[in-house]
Amino acid sequence: MRLLILGDIVGDPGILAVTQQLPALRQRYRADLVIANAENAHQGTGLTPNLYKKLLAAGIDAMTLGDHCYKKNQIIPTLQQVDNLIRPCNLSAQALGRTSMVIQKEGLASLYVFTVLGRLMMSMPANDPFAAADAMLSTAPRDAAVIVEVHAEATSEKVALGWHLNGRAAVVFGTHTHISTRDARLLPPGIPSPEAGWDNSGGGGTAYVSDLGMCGPIDGVLGRRADRVLKHMTSNMPAPFDVAEGNPQVQGVFVELSGRCASAIESFTAVADPAQPPFCEG
Ligand SMILES: [Fe+2]
Ligand SMILES: [Fe+2]
Repeated sequence: MRLLILGDIVGDPGILAVTQQLPALRQRYRADLVIANAENAHQGTGLTPNLYKKLLAAGIDAMTLGDHCYKKNQIIPTLQQVDNLIRPCNLSAQALGRTSMVIQKEGLASLYVFTVLGRLMMSMPANDPFAAADAMLSTAPRDAAVIVEVHAEATSEKVALGWHLNGRAAVVFGTHTHISTRDARLLPPGIPSPEAGWDNSGGGGTAYVSDLGMCGPIDGVLGRRADRVLKHMTSNMPAPFDVAEGNPQVQGVFVELSGRCASAIESFTAVADPAQPPFCEG
């Protein structure tokens, strides 16, 4: 199975960039399926039912949400009803919305997808993501390839979760920082340990990347207007962090799965052209 996973979609520039670039990306990678994080779709914060539909129409098959999952609370009924949109699994037991999804397409192996929220430098309180991932894995369908999103600020927490899930998940990918990292690779089997020697007795087949980057305007600060962020950071004075516009790109990874394991991972960036549709329509 050939999979595209897209970084956080930020505001209208992100949605337009995905709408413009995804058909060619799907073709280039002969992708069977596209997953994206959509937590920043509505003007940089949250997702609405209308934008959820718009992103499906743009060619995305399934979406995840991170710490901004409830910022537009009109998404909550959708989050409870549909089978291709999830929020992080390690929130309060009272938190609403689906926490995992099984994606099944005819003729392809099924995928079991869930998101864990990091605890380091994150403002949204969350339960232990390591224990949460273990609990989710214990209920995964036996024949499904497991895809885990680590929505977290700290690279250390993401890398640690990569090793923790090594050999048990087909893909562990990071989101939230909106900055693409260049560490996409297949992890070697096991967990490196100087005392025990390299334990490579089992596992393997886990593709890992610390952060996908984003689908949105690169000429800004994580998708927000650089002038506003600079004003705030240099003066301590409030400034509205509107979504930036310049240099919209689509960033993510291509992953090839063979059964329940990954056999390849590659980062990509597609630069959108704001002079072409749909940017210049209407
Ligand atoms: Fe984000
Ligand atoms: Fe986030």
